[in-house]
Amino acid sequence: MKFNRFSRREFLAMGAGAAGASLVTKTIFLDPEPAWAFQGPVSPSDRVRFGIIGVGMQGSGLLTNAIELPGIECVAACDLYDGRHTLAKEIVRPDLPTTRRYQELLANKDIDCIVAAVPDHWHKQVVVDAVSAGKDIYCEKPMSHTAADGVEMVTAAKRTGRIVQIGSQRVSSVICAKAKELVTKGALGDLMLVEGSLGRNDPTGAWEYPPPPDLSPQTLDWDTWQGMVPKRPFDPKIFARWRCWKEYGTGVAGDLLVHLISGMQYVVGINQPPKRVMAMGGILRWKDGRNMPDVHAALFEYGEVPMYMRLNLGTETPEVYRFQGSKGILELTEFTLTYIPQAGVDTSPSYYAYSFPKAMREEYFKKWHQEHDAVPGKETAFEGVTYRSISWDDVKPHLWNFFQAVHSRKPVVEDAVFGHNAALACHMANESYFRKSAVSWDAGSNTIKS
Ligand SMILES: NC(=O)c1ccc[n+]([C@@H]2O[C@H](COP(=O)([O-])OP(=O)(O)OC[C@H]3O[C@@H](n4cnc5c(N)ncnc54)[C@H](O)[C@@H]3O)[C@@H](O)[C@H]2O)c1
Repeated sequence: MKFNRFSRREFLAMGAGAAGASLVTKTIFLDPEPAWAFQGPVSPSDRVRFGIIGVGMQGSGLLTNAIELPGIECVAACDLYDGRHTLAKEIVRPDLPTTRRYQELLANKDIDCIVAAVPDHWHKQVVVDAVSAGKDIYCEKPMSHTAADGVEMVTAAKRTGRIVQIGSQRVSSVICAKAKELVTKGALGDLMLVEGSLGRNDPTGAWEYPPPPDLSPQTLDWDTWQGMVPKRPFDPKIFARWRCWKEYGTGVAGDLLVHLISGMQYVVGINQPPKRVMAMGGILRWKDGRNMPDVHAALFEYGEVPMYMRLNLGTETPEVYRFQGSKGILELTEFTLTYIPQAGVDTSPSYYAYSFPKAMREEYFKKWHQEHDAVPGKETAFEGVTYRSISWDDVKPHLWNFFQAVHSRKPVVEDAVFGHNAALACHMANESYFRKSAVSWDAGSNTIKS
């Protein structure tokens, strides 16, 4: 995502309406000028040197963005597929050291921290090995492949005291920060319900990615790639489309729902797993041998508040949240946040009064208008507001939050506990789908119960 720049003074107010909003709203562009834009030259002692593990679809984007940050330097890259060594050298520099063994990066004293973007089934091992070797780590979402993996990762992060940042980048976006600010200031009143949804309708959106043409057991360490999963013969489709199978991926829940959950946790201020989850869905569109659902609707219970999240790979719909409260609605998308306040009072006489006899009805209407009609010139201002910003998918702010923490030792925005709780919600949605029953998290035994 290209970084659009608006000046601090480009504060525009214009008429605009959110989808479904009946009120006129003014529009405010959120200042996207990032902290790193104000940095001067960085002294050698302030530089942060990282190694990257996994230079695939996401890792290559993280690498490109990370080396554009001031004072951030890539020392070495690791991947099991040699084509991605070439790619890393193209991104960083032709003589960048590359390896198939990530243990070499963990043993390298010139490397301060790790950025990891490996498939989900490798997250736990890479994170536990990295923190045990004394390295801080930015690991992609979903934090864990299973609930048990997540428990082990939290334990390892706590035991070693290393910084762990999980990669749901929207929690570092200005648009989510504004939503959080409004919720914290009470704009919603009492939270009633949260909805989130996302739909896609194309093969790439459904993970039917083209395997690299030169992929072979010679260019890829297929045996290691499979990790602890029972071994299968070399299969380029599994390498490229691992999200389709639960042995490696975590379904639409771990791929897409986890972003919705992480953003929701951040905006609402929740850092715990849901009490209960009920999910359903199926493989309704992409009957290509996958074993994870392509339609997945899940109902979560957080405290007393229900949250309903819908993922669909068979119909394209925008990604959107609706945070609904007693004082209004916040509608949040990748680029916009619209707040529509609601007074929560009658704005006209109750229609129930039409069931009164004539004289009684007329008396009720007269009295209602005397008591409620606005006095001319004293009407209360009652308008919504729409904020616009750059994409919440920009990874630079989230990487910057991590690299700053590596240097300052201050906490990150999305640590292992936060990432674990978000991932747990997704594992619970998957478990509920497969078990065809509601599930809950048993913190005593650290397991998902039906
Ligand atoms: N935050 C986001 O918006 C976002 C977007 C896409 C993917 N992701 C996440 O990033 C991770 C990677 O996804 P992807 O689409 O880039 O996958 P990918 O298959 O394109 O790339 C993964 C790379 O990791 C390498 N790899 C696997 N095991 C390894 C190991 N043990 N040691 C070294 N290299 C290893 C593979 O060879 C491959 O090149 C996933 O967890 C995914 O959920 C996050």
